[in-house]
Amino acid sequence: MRTVYVNGAYVPEDEAKISVFDRGFLFADGVYEVTSVLDGKLIDFAGHAARLKRSLSELEMESPVSEDDLLEIHRHLVRVNEIDEGLVYLQVTRGAADRDFAYPAEARPSLVLFTQAKPGLADAPAAKKGMRVISIPDRRWGRRDIKTVQLLYPSMGKMMARAAGADDAWMVEEGAVTEGTSNNAYIVKGNTIVTRHLGEEILHGITRAAVLRMAAEAQMKVEERSFTIAEAQDADEAFVTSASTFVMPVVEIDGEPVGAGAPGPVAARLREIYLDESRKKAV
Ligand code: PDD
Repeated sequence: MRTVYVNGAYVPEDEAKISVFDRGFLFADGVYEVTSVLDGKLIDFAGHAARLKRSLSELEMESPVSEDDLLEIHRHLVRVNEIDEGLVYLQVTRGAADRDFAYPAEARPSLVLFTQAKPGLADAPAAKKGMRVISIPDRRWGRRDIKTVQLLYPSMGKMMARAAGADDAWMVEEGAVTEGTSNNAYIVKGNTIVTRHLGEEILHGITRAAVLRMAAEAQMKVEERSFTIAEAQDADEAFVTSASTFVMPVVEIDGEPVGAGAPGPVAARLREIYLDESRKKAV
């Protein structure tokens, strides 16, 4: 049985408790982070901690613990649960209070972390096969730059993809791709990597920031701008990035093959560079 962290205590998962009045439960009033683990170490912890701080501040929530303590909690859980490859999920909610739409002054933030073992995460067969995606309208709220736990529409999107025999969905707003249900979306044309510019319309992926930096260091050209599904279908390659998939090729969009309909060299190279560099910097 796993050990999880709940508000200051390490407990067996079946003893962990959160109040029925917790605003995460009642209002989706909470934010989260997913940090991957390779070789028993955390990938880009500093990036995730910085984004958490920003999400909290946008919602006028206090961090329940310091960044040093947060790192220690992550490390402790990875250690006691013997995670070699997998991820750490962290959630901060505004806490428990009588139900009221306004933020209750008496609520104290609640902090939960747990691990998920994912043996073979770095060597995922999907990276060699590539993913098939469908496009769906983006019906999420307007502050997607805050990593809130209101994930119902992305969850519906995954189900729409599954019903269509695909692996995931890319969301489209005003004719342009915003992002995948739980990842950032990219296309490659010639020597140029294109991914949507940052703004309130997408999550500012920690993997995205690292991959764009590494692409530039490898002399690849990067354009941060929106693109359409038609442009993506006409691209040489497509891929997504996230903490749980790293760099993952996309080989089909709405039934149309992208490029040769197989994972391309740019995505493969970026995946390799990302994994190598991240392992070296892991903490
Ligand atoms: N999802 N866009 C969305 C909508 C996401 O949910 C995620 C991450 C990303 C990629 O961000 P990062 O590179 O920081 O993981 C982009 C996580 C992995 C999840 O919900 O499981």
